[in-house]
Amino acid sequence: MCGIIKINRFSENWIILLGNLYLLLVNVLVIGSGGREHALSWKLSQSSKVETVFTAPGNGGTENNVPIDVNDLDGLAEFAQKNNCFTVVGPEDPLAAGIVDKFNKLNLKVFGPSQAAAQLESSKIWAKNFMKRNNIPTARFEIFDDAQKAIEYLKSIDYNVVVKADGLAAGKGVIVCNSDDEAISAIQTILVKKTFGDAGNKIIIEERIDGIEASYIALSDGNVALPMASSQDHKRIFDDDKGPNTGGMGAYSPTPIVTDALAKKIQEEVIEKTIHAMNHEGISFKGFLYAGIMIKDGKPYVLEYNVRMGDPECQPITVRMNFDLYDYFIASVDGTLSSMPLLSWKDQFSVCVVLASNGYPGSYSTNDEITGFDSIPNGTNVFHAGTKKSDGKILSNGGRVLGVTSLGDSLESAINNAYLAIEKINWSNKFCRTDIGKKGLSYF
Ligand code: AMP
Ligand code: GLY
Repeated sequence: MCGIIKINRFSENWIILLGNLYLLLVNVLVIGSGGREHALSWKLSQSSKVETVFTAPGNGGTENNVPIDVNDLDGLAEFAQKNNCFTVVGPEDPLAAGIVDKFNKLNLKVFGPSQAAAQLESSKIWAKNFMKRNNIPTARFEIFDDAQKAIEYLKSIDYNVVVKADGLAAGKGVIVCNSDDEAISAIQTILVKKTFGDAGNKIIIEERIDGIEASYIALSDGNVALPMASSQDHKRIFDDDKGPNTGGMGAYSPTPIVTDALAKKIQEEVIEKTIHAMNHEGISFKGFLYAGIMIKDGKPYVLEYNVRMGDPECQPITVRMNFDLYDYFIASVDGTLSSMPLLSWKDQFSVCVVLASNGYPGSYSTNDEITGFDSIPNGTNVFHAGTKKSDGKILSNGGRVLGVTSLGDSLESAINNAYLAIEKINWSNKFCRTDIGKKGLSYF
């Protein structure tokens, strides 16, 4: 009898302890539907502190999808409130619309920058003026809202230019020009034809800098910024950086282009300077701060800021993380990053090759069945982007469809692993670049 009572008390204590542990677990809501959000959801679901990761609206690869649009801030807030979620915002649009401010007002915990801080990405003019007044290295520029004046200005300068729409244009509002004729046509596309709508009410004409591009991303809590592993994107649609710009056709990490000395320079002269200058102007920057960098003659120039993780950079960076990402997101929100251990990374290379639908970034077909997921070897993650599930099948549902992401002990082996895995995946309109990571190889 005594023994039975003892066993019951013991079990009771365990039940209470497990119950308490369960109560300590949190739900996470990741907002977005791209490869970046699949990678973030995948990593966050590995945290011992996380119960369920929901993704809104998610894609064919993410679990626990919630059918709420990224711009439906009320719907997202209601879901987060009901399900007691810590929210992670993936893309720029809801950040620019003020989702973080809204959630904060409702006492909902959310990772990402405020609307004021998101101006670094949502207005290229705001960002350029900010860099100019704070001596952050960037290309020289002028701002116009009148096409005729912009064309007259072109005649007064003797260097190639890049014409940029001021507002968010889904990564398409930047036209890199090789001649005055191309620049005039770019001015007309944005200011006269209004191809990007109100995002093109004003333009920037800036000096084109011909150098090597890299992505430098740091995690900030408003005071300190911890650098993520370095990475390099491939923005053009075709091999050897030919053809139009895309959202990104592949990325790898780390990149030998960002040497330790250069990383220190970017960290101090761009990232820390930006965070401190923002504070000085009364804006705290919390979240991922991404500087698109052009390196010329050993000097970094900021081409653009993003106020979020890069896509596809997120995919190769995430698979190298040797830490609990959830802990660092919480520390960013709470302002306690300085007390966290330094980020540690797998001592391996990773490569993400984007599989797109033929025709992207122009028009392309959707609803093609994709096969081969069962044959993917260990060491490779296939992150979904433009996919959806239908009757147990995975169908294409966007321009950038999958991000095949492989690790390897050298950059070369990571590249080989990714391209071997790609052969296993098939659909009728599959397209990818064949040279992702090649630029990095010449540095070894
Ligand atoms: P952004 O969206 O501002 O990063 O621009 C998209 C792409 O355009 C960049 O990744 C670069 O490849 C290119 N670009 C933007 N600004 C410049 C510049 N000043 N000089 C050369 N290329 C640029
Ligand atoms: N990969 C570029 C971007 O995320 O904007």
